[in-house]
Amino acid sequence: METVRLGLIGCGGAMARFHETYFKDVQGLTYAACTDMKREAAEESAEKHGCKVFDSAEEMIDSGEVDLILIATPHFTHPIFAQRAFSKGINVITEKPLAVTAHDGQATIDAFESARKAKSDLIFAGMFQQRTFATWSAVKRLCTDGSIGEIMRVNWTITDWFRTQTYYDAGGWRATWKGEGGGVLLNQCPHNLDLLCWFVGQPSRVTALAELGKYHHIEVEDDVTAILQWPNGASGTFITSTGQTPGINRLEIVGKNGTLIADLMPGDEKHTLTYYRTHEPVDEFTKNCPERFAEIPADKLVMTPADGDKRPNHQRIVQNVVDTVRFGKGQDNLLTPAPEGLFGLELGNAMLMSGLKSSPVALPMPAEGELSRKAYADMIVHLGETSTFKKNEVKESKADMGSSF
Ligand SMILES: NC(=O)c1ccc[n+]([C@@H]2O[C@H](COP(=O)([O-])OP(=O)(O)OC[C@H]3O[C@@H](n4cnc5c(N)ncnc54)[C@H](O)[C@@H]3O)[C@@H](O)[C@H]2O)c1
Repeated sequence: METVRLGLIGCGGAMARFHETYFKDVQGLTYAACTDMKREAAEESAEKHGCKVFDSAEEMIDSGEVDLILIATPHFTHPIFAQRAFSKGINVITEKPLAVTAHDGQATIDAFESARKAKSDLIFAGMFQQRTFATWSAVKRLCTDGSIGEIMRVNWTITDWFRTQTYYDAGGWRATWKGEGGGVLLNQCPHNLDLLCWFVGQPSRVTALAELGKYHHIEVEDDVTAILQWPNGASGTFITSTGQTPGINRLEIVGKNGTLIADLMPGDEKHTLTYYRTHEPVDEFTKNCPERFAEIPADKLVMTPADGDKRPNHQRIVQNVVDTVRFGKGQDNLLTPAPEGLFGLELGNAMLMSGLKSSPVALPMPAEGELSRKAYADMIVHLGETSTFKKNEVKESKADMGSSF
């Protein structure tokens, strides 16, 4: 295929407007089509970028005029458009999250797998651009090359997702059960939840406190404190909030071979990675050390991973997808395969469910039962249908997407 014809769904939105800025720099990509519920927004895109306007996402997908769609609409629509595209053999990049619920995420993955039977090089990518950040690539390497070893504890505090009330008042769908389906776990944290599972695997049990509208006039969660347990007995915490500032982003991974701390403190431009490499595995040291009180000998390395690639991280994801589609390289060539997004999505679902039901939740969540994927999906629908919450008046405000990733 000479060029990949891209169709953008939700082109009038804040995120889509950002994507449009770099499409011209993606080799082998033609920005062929756009659509948005707000017709005038789509006309604006067409005029600026020379693409064709479709009345709806469905029409665009069915037109035969696009090879790839990028879904940048509110979360509930991601599975609907992705599944329709797969039924037509069209490749998909979905914005995060994969879906609102693991139940819907799984249905989308099933639709993809089934469509791949007829078209083996079909592609399903997720916009998890943080996987390409230099810091997170370095953490992934240290987690997989044996530098950390078997994990013992993982703590992540992410309170640098601060949002003002103006942010929540800028869109009718935002921070409502019916329109968005969740709060900080679904909107801001999909990146962190994806990274956590990518680094150290999905925990097997979650016990969480999820506080609704603690710092904002919203009905969904804006503050979460979760205790995590992994199948090997490792434990840890995941703490996040959109109500605290200055916020921090501090990840600590303690393993049998080393300890890693990734820190981003208020005012820092880059993460600092501090890695302690122990001279022997900690369990051996505990068993064999003749002293009563001792510190394990360790080398300390401090790094600030820098990114040589100056392209926006989103552009790198799109370029990778376009190359994969053009040269028929297949799903294994993707930097961010969307089906992997299910682990983080389900982890976030489990945190919210644990908080709202005051009960630990086991992972992977079973398909049926009291604390299942189905029960979670039903709970979100119920919260939306029974909501009596009055949102503040919706006021359009300027969005600087560059500071939101
Ligand atoms: N990857 C990232 O870092 C990142 C950052 C921000 C947002 N996002 C994701 O992007 C998505 C959109 O977020 P946003 O902040 O741009 O929202 P937004 O409200 O600014 O934009 C959504 C756009 O979709 C349009 N739309 C809604 N339903 C539609 C439909 N059925 N058909 C066609 N158009 C429709 C709306 O008119 C609007 O223009 C969300 O899922 C969000 O999680 C990702």
